[in-house]
Amino acid sequence: MNNNIDWGNLSFGYFPTKYNVRCYWRDGQWGELEVSSSEIINIHIAATCLHYGQDAFEGMKAFTGKDGKIRLFRWQDNAQRMKESADVLLMPEVPENLFIEAVEKAIKLNKEFVPPYGTGASLYIRPLLIGTGAQVGVKPANEYLFIIFVGPVGPYFKEGFNPVNIQVARDYDRAAPLGTGHVKVGGNYGASLRATERAHHEGYSACLFLDAKEKKYIDECGPANFFAIKGNNYITPDSHSILPSITNKSLIQIAKDMGMTVEKRHIPFEELAEFDEVGACGTAAVISPVKQIVDAEAGKVFNYCKDGKAGPYSTKLYNKLLSIQNGDEPDNYGWTHIIE
Ligand code: PLP
Ligand code: COI
Repeated sequence: MNNNIDWGNLSFGYFPTKYNVRCYWRDGQWGELEVSSSEIINIHIAATCLHYGQDAFEGMKAFTGKDGKIRLFRWQDNAQRMKESADVLLMPEVPENLFIEAVEKAIKLNKEFVPPYGTGASLYIRPLLIGTGAQVGVKPANEYLFIIFVGPVGPYFKEGFNPVNIQVARDYDRAAPLGTGHVKVGGNYGASLRATERAHHEGYSACLFLDAKEKKYIDECGPANFFAIKGNNYITPDSHSILPSITNKSLIQIAKDMGMTVEKRHIPFEELAEFDEVGACGTAAVISPVKQIVDAEAGKVFNYCKDGKAGPYSTKLYNKLLSIQNGDEPDNYGWTHIIE
């Protein structure tokens, strides 16, 4: 373990480690997995990732348990989502066996950076797939690079599990109805930067995007999915332009196991007034309970967490998810994979 890291005070950001792993796709096939100690990549000035957005990534986490074992959460889902992103951008798929070999190697080589049990921190794993071949016409590349780097992280929002405020980004869209919102590609994040930065500058933790076509329904919450609690119901949007969150999928299962009713459907904006609890969920954010949603343009404010704390359902979901992830509770669905 690296004794120079203040595990309990990490934020969510880039943290240099010792190694990353890389694999090149050339002449129609994947090469050998390579280990690098450089944080730099050397690519062609006309690489398609730089000009035409051939760029997909993933985000997942590994945790140290009380037993000292490192558990990786739901990697198969991330591997599958990366295949879907690759397919949408006409990039070669990263096969599951290459994906997991690369993840395991990146974790093992950087073992000293995996946060210990009980610190609230985790190891964030960032797979990246980019077009590196040169094109000037708008065409897919003929060469690609798959990279994985890792780093210890703390909470995505500085509030951690304390409630956050959210700004409705009515005047921006993150993704078009038939665009790329359902996959994890760099362009979606470029499109979300202005709304997100405005929210930050105005004192909010994130922005809330509405559906791009009618501006009637809730889409998602910056880099996280949206969920709400009404009575005993867990409600989350059904939309083609949001990222199918693996955290949300897990919370849906946990909510069902807790005897809740799950509704995946369009959520009209006005329904915000009827919810008991609202939250943002994702790998980086885990669950961020929402205290206030402000829609300046429509002159509306919605308040939750009136006692300043996360609501009881969000708290239970959060605790259950984290205890499965770090091995404190049985993993009934085979979500965790131990790195030997
Ligand atoms: N929505 C967006 C736009 C995201 O970037 C993320 C993060 O990956 C999520 C939702 C949450 O997805 P997941 O739970 O799979 O991390
Ligand atoms: C994640 O939750 O893994 C994300 O990728 C969110 C953000 C850092 C892009």
